[in-house]
Amino acid sequence: MSDSKKLIEQIKKLKKEKNAILLVHNYQRPEIYEVADFIGDSLELSRKASQTDADTIVFCGVKFMAETAKILSPNKNVLLPVIEAGCSMADMITAEQVLELRAKYPNAAVVSYVNTNADVKAVSDICCTSANAIKVVNSLPNDEIIFLPDKNLGHYVQQHSTKTIHLWAGYCAVHQDLKGTDLIAFKKEHPLAKIIAHPECQEDILEVADFVCSTGGMAKYAEQNGSEEFIVVTECGMTDKLRQDVPSKNFLSFCNLCSFMKATTLESVLAALQENKHQIILDEEMMNKARKSIVNMLAVV
Ligand code: 13P
Ligand code: SF4
Repeated sequence: MSDSKKLIEQIKKLKKEKNAILLVHNYQRPEIYEVADFIGDSLELSRKASQTDADTIVFCGVKFMAETAKILSPNKNVLLPVIEAGCSMADMITAEQVLELRAKYPNAAVVSYVNTNADVKAVSDICCTSANAIKVVNSLPNDEIIFLPDKNLGHYVQQHSTKTIHLWAGYCAVHQDLKGTDLIAFKKEHPLAKIIAHPECQEDILEVADFVCSTGGMAKYAEQNGSEEFIVVTECGMTDKLRQDVPSKNFLSFCNLCSFMKATTLESVLAALQENKHQIILDEEMMNKARKSIVNMLAVV
């Protein structure tokens, strides 16, 4: 038996013994999919985290996702196999900076992308993900919105809303580095392919995309669309996931790697289950405040 097969068997056995569930983001390594109980985007994963009967949630993704699971299921044991698996975009805004924005725009509602740290969620009115950002913003009674931290997602939302949106200058480096001119050149080599892009990409990418959606929306689009070939513009792992989900179609990568997402390995998942690490522990008062902004989002969509 190969080493990875052995690891997979050990993880599956321990999962059962510990009544643990493994929630896995789409960008994870394909071998992690093998031990997953559920694979999805941020919104789908947060829903699963709020609904599970498991005692332990092992989150194969990044820290803000594991924190969201803990906030929604505070009595559960939530583990993040690699504690360094953060998100550079989430670290681009602090709670103090949100409070300064609130003072500057007192009539505005604060909409925080779920890619934020828990203390930022605690001073926000509502969260959103890439799957529901437009709906969340348009659901609010306020005419003015503070949208943070992703300027690209915020700009995309602005194009689908009549509200005045104040943007924060954050971004995801993985998506920011993808350039529209390079994408146009790539498309010329594959003229029949449809372009699917994540809204964390810059405007020049989104302008030439045939469809803009969360990672969870990509498989649905590819299945339903008549085309046989797609250019997938986001983190590289998404192409692995689409090839598994829609094997009859052809997926081409126009992508960068997220080192945070790729930090989780089968070895680290096994160690997490064996040694009950790394536990997500958050201040209770902060969690209670942050929960409101996540629950408000889940009530919209
Ligand atoms: P999704 O919610 O679309 O999966 O995006 C999460 C993310 O971190 C994208 O970079
Ligand atoms: Fe954060 Fe970007 Fe990685 Fe997503 S792809 S987890 S936004 S750094």
